[in-house]
This record gives sequence, structure tokens and C-alpha cells, in this order.
Amino acid sequence: MSEGETFELSAAPPRGTTMANGWQRDTAEPDPGTGLETSPHFDELLAILRTEAGLDFGGYKRPPLLRRTLRRMDLAQVPRLADYVALLRRDPEEAIALGNDLTVSVSGFFRDAEAWEALREVIAPRLAERDDGEPVRAWVTACASGEEAYSLAILLVEEADRLGKRFEVKIFATDTAKGFLDRARSGEFAGVIEEQIPADRLERFFDREGPVYRVKKFLREMVVFAPQNLLSDPPFSRLDLCTCRNLLIYLEPEMQRRVLALLHFALREGGTLFLGSAEMPGPDDGSFEPLNKKWRIYRRLGPTRHGAVDFPIRTLIPAREAGERSVAGSRLAFAPNVQAIAPTSRGSAHRGVAGTSSSFTHSRAAGPVIR
Ligand SMILES: C[S@@+](CC[C@H](N)C(=O)[O-])C[C@H]1O[C@@H](n2cnc3c(N)ncnc32)[C@H](O)[C@@H]1O
Repeated sequence: MSEGETFELSAAPPRGTTMANGWQRDTAEPDPGTGLETSPHFDELLAILRTEAGLDFGGYKRPPLLRRTLRRMDLAQVPRLADYVALLRRDPEEAIALGNDLTVSVSGFFRDAEAWEALREVIAPRLAERDDGEPVRAWVTACASGEEAYSLAILLVEEADRLGKRFEVKIFATDTAKGFLDRARSGEFAGVIEEQIPADRLERFFDREGPVYRVKKFLREMVVFAPQNLLSDPPFSRLDLCTCRNLLIYLEPEMQRRVLALLHFALREGGTLFLGSAEMPGPDDGSFEPLNKKWRIYRRLGPTRHGAVDFPIRTLIPAREAGERSVAGSRLAFAPNVQAIAPTSRGSAHRGVAGTSSSFTHSRAAGPVIR
């Protein structure tokens, strides 16, 4: 199809496949076959999203982006891409709505339950080797509205209990979408989560507040939510566990490689990487070894590869010296030259695990840093 031509909306593939549990599967859908994704109009559309909605989709696979764009064009009843681009120029709200539609946010508690059981099997012996009171540091990237981060917190509490130990758990949970992060931080979830979480877990880890469930305070205190873009912002470091689930499938192979290099940097040697089960086959360059191939669980190998990551690693300066500003409950510092990360240990203890309420310092230049 040539650019600007009217496309057949009926030719677009059906909306996301509905899974047994009722969620929409967010696989990277096939090319709708219009050829429009290579059109200059589509380049222009992506440029408008960058300037109007602050969303940079460079590095993302284009067919799924186009597919969602076609849906928006359908809703707006604008069948020609050139006309839709003109609409986006006239109407910034449409640009924001399109940007929201292009940001796939599907998530859930213990999504792919078997994968979580596989993760439990991998981390249980590692926790058993840990001394009582040791810190456990994890990073949940692309955390959307927080379900994955809270699932991990629950799993760690349960394992600590089983071992009769008490760990100081800190989970950093990040995403590019500030709206999702605000929701995640509130810890409130609709009653429908009853379908995802068995009653005993619900009772132990959530409070019922009218029509919603709210994650209990001790669990919320284990998780710090903050903005971070995996394609452009520096990472955390010295982590025991990183998750990156259901984002890589939307990225071009080169971007996938960069993100994996970033996560290699972020983990300690021997640290655990937990990818989404629909992800590409996984890292195969000797930087990780598979612990569970089916469920995409890996162990970081070798020393830190400073040369393999494409971001400026700088050194930490105290936030107050860097000129702090408060964003969505997180203290952000714009600090040149940041390196050190030192979790604080104030916070409340609950059964086997203590959450810390350390201040979160994020440097655009230097990455998120916990002090
Ligand atoms: C499909 S959701 C996955 C949520 C969760 N990880 C899961 O598997 O249930 C994808 C998430 O990736 C986030 N995202 C997209 N691009 C990102 C980027 N460059 N850096 C960080 N997060 C990103 C989106 O905002 C969205 O919340």
C-alpha cells in the first residue's frame, strides 16, 4: 500500500488475544501488512509523539506501534495516515491519547504463575545461604502499575518466613509512565485481583478498603517506585535480582541487546535475571547462563562489563548539593558523577522481612540512587 492510501480497517488483525484469565495478551503483534510502518508519515507521527507527548518510540518494533495507531485512526474515523498526522498536529490531546495507547501496560500479580514458581525455586537456595538480616536488593524494571514488584515482595516475605530469617528487602520498581507509577505507589488495586491472588495471600498482604484492595503498609515499604527509562537512563547497581518482563518483545533487537547489557551491569556477579516468558530466547553472548530456559531465568556471569553499556556512569554527590526537587514522592537529584549506592536501614520490620524507607535519589545524568 502506498502512503496516504486508504487502508482497509478490516485487514488489521483482531484485537489482542484474550487469555484464559481474561487479560489481554500483549504480545508484539505481527505486521499488519500495510507497509505503512516505513512511511515518512509514520516517521512524522513518531516525531510528534516525541515532541507533543514526550514519548520516544525510537528503538521499538514498528509493526505493533502501527497496529495500535490503526486502531486509533479507526476510532477517530480518519482512514488516511497523512490525515491522521495532520489531526495529531492540530490536536495535542489526540497525540497524548495515541501515546497512551502505544504504551502497553498490561500486568498482573504473579503473571505466568509457573514462572514465579520457577523463580522461587531458583532464589530459595540463594536466600538459604544468606545470613539473617542481610540486605536483598532487587530491581523490577518496566513495572507498570506495580503488580510485579508487589508479587516479588510477597515471594520474598514468604521465603524468608519459610527459612525463619529476616532480610532487609529493598525493591526498586521503575517505569517510564509516571501515571502508572502513581497508581503503583498508592498500592490500590480493583477487586478483580481476587481472580489473581488466592484468599490467604489476599488476607495476609492486602487490606480491603471498600471496593478496592490496598497493599499492606509493611509490603509497600519494601518497594520504591520511581521513573526510569531503560533505553536512556542509567541503571541501579549491585543488585541481587533484576526483572525485565514483557518489554523486550516490543524493542528492536539492538535495543534488546543494550537493555540486557544494562541489566548485566546492574546485577552483582551471580545475580539473577528474570525475563518474560514470551521474550526472545535470551542472552547468548556468555554474559548470562540460563538457570531455567523455559521461564527465562538467568545467572549473571563474569565481572562488570563497563564498556558494554551505553550510558554515562558518574559519581554520586549528595542530593542536597545537587539541587533536589520533589517529584511524585521521590527526591530527584541531578547529580553529575554518581557512583555509590548506600541503602539506609531505617524502616519497619514485619515478620521475616524488613522494608526500608530510604530516600530515593535519581539523577538524570547518573541514574537512580538509593541513599
Ligand atoms: C506490558 S507492560 C509490562 C509490565 C510488567 N513488567 C509485567 O510483565 O507484567 C510494559 C511496561 O513497559 C514500560 N516501558 C515501556 N518502555 C519503557 C522503557 N523504555 N523503559 C522503562 N519502561 C518502559 C511501559 O510503560 C509498561 O508499563
